[in-house]
Amino acid sequence: MTDRNDIMKALGNVMDPELGVDLVTLGMIRDVKMQGDTVSVMVALTAPGCPLKNKIGKDIEEELKKLQGVSKVEVLFGSMTEAERENTFQKAGGKGQTQQTEDPLKKLSGQPIKRIIAVGSGKGGVGKSLVTSLLAVAASRKGFKVGVIDADITGPSIPTIFGQKGLLVAGEKGVEPRKTKKGIEMVSMNLLIPDPTTPVIWRGPVLAGVLRQFYTDVNWGNLDLLFVDLPPGTADVPLTVFQIFPIDGMVVVTSPQELANLVVTKALKMAAEMSIPLVGVVENMTYFVCKDGEKVEVFGKSRVQERCKEQGVPYLGGMPIDPSYARIADEGAIEDAVMPQAVEDTLKTILGEK
Ligand SMILES: Nc1ncnc2c1ncn2[C@@H]1O[C@H](COP(=O)(O)OP(=O)(O)OP(=O)(O)O)[C@@H](O)[C@H]1O
Ligand SMILES: [Mg+2]
Repeated sequence: MTDRNDIMKALGNVMDPELGVDLVTLGMIRDVKMQGDTVSVMVALTAPGCPLKNKIGKDIEEELKKLQGVSKVEVLFGSMTEAERENTFQKAGGKGQTQQTEDPLKKLSGQPIKRIIAVGSGKGGVGKSLVTSLLAVAASRKGFKVGVIDADITGPSIPTIFGQKGLLVAGEKGVEPRKTKKGIEMVSMNLLIPDPTTPVIWRGPVLAGVLRQFYTDVNWGNLDLLFVDLPPGTADVPLTVFQIFPIDGMVVVTSPQELANLVVTKALKMAAEMSIPLVGVVENMTYFVCKDGEKVEVFGKSRVQERCKEQGVPYLGGMPIDPSYARIADEGAIEDAVMPQAVEDTLKTILGEK
């Protein structure tokens, strides 16, 4: 028979997504009751409007339902006093220290960033990072102050595309983002580990903590546009990004293949579920222009435009396969790119000019 001890043991497996330490160790569990097949748990959050509340609730439910005889889980949320909160951050080994005296939500909204745009796809290797980088370059050429968050913690590629190396430094107002020659600012895991070839193998909660810090602990200053390069897939990390950042819009990148289209449908559904407004779909690698000027649809006739129409999603344009993109991305010379029309058009849509 499941008892309080079993419940507390199970709750010891649930991590605070921000601090990466379990809820029991952090003293966040205030009350536990079991009545019949229902367990009620009272959780004290570090901040009343903690944006990760839903995730914590879901994780608790998932963990407790593994216990014998538990079929219903109720999670009630309260919040900590200032003293309790400080104590919690100390238990977390100093993590989240910057938020000790400040409500994290206040800090989140305190960033004077005008618009945050995520670039994602259900599938890997379709050109998300390239499109993110080109959008940043196009916006910067128009005179906007632009930042890029490389949310692909385990496979970061933004610094390479912009030719950036070496570690970020902390200043008085937090971590200073790296500034490129043309003034685009960025943070990436690759600029935080001494050897960028070291693989990052972390569990979800730790990744979430890092992502949150990319936003809250970086001195972004006044940005007109902040682009977020999402990792592939519709799993944990993209969802965490949506929970943490107040995303104003999402650009979905796809390639013309049928399979990629299906994954895009998934990405669109995810955005709808998370109530993220869709900017539209950019189709990448749509065609190849031969030396004689003939356009060849390498993957066969594309159905992306048709699909977008069916789903009522704006089609933002198609980008050709152009080996020069791959070359400048590899060489870190993206700021010299000849801008594809599809990216110009996407930026116009983001800016509400189209
Ligand atoms: N239109 C294009 N023409 C030529 N090469 C391209 C094009 N788009 C992307 N590439 C190249 O394809 C590779 C994958 O692109 P990119 O890294 O942008 O994809 P991604 O979707 O971010 O991948 P991941 O899912 O791994 O993050 C890169 O080497 C990139 O330079
Ligand atoms: Mg990428």
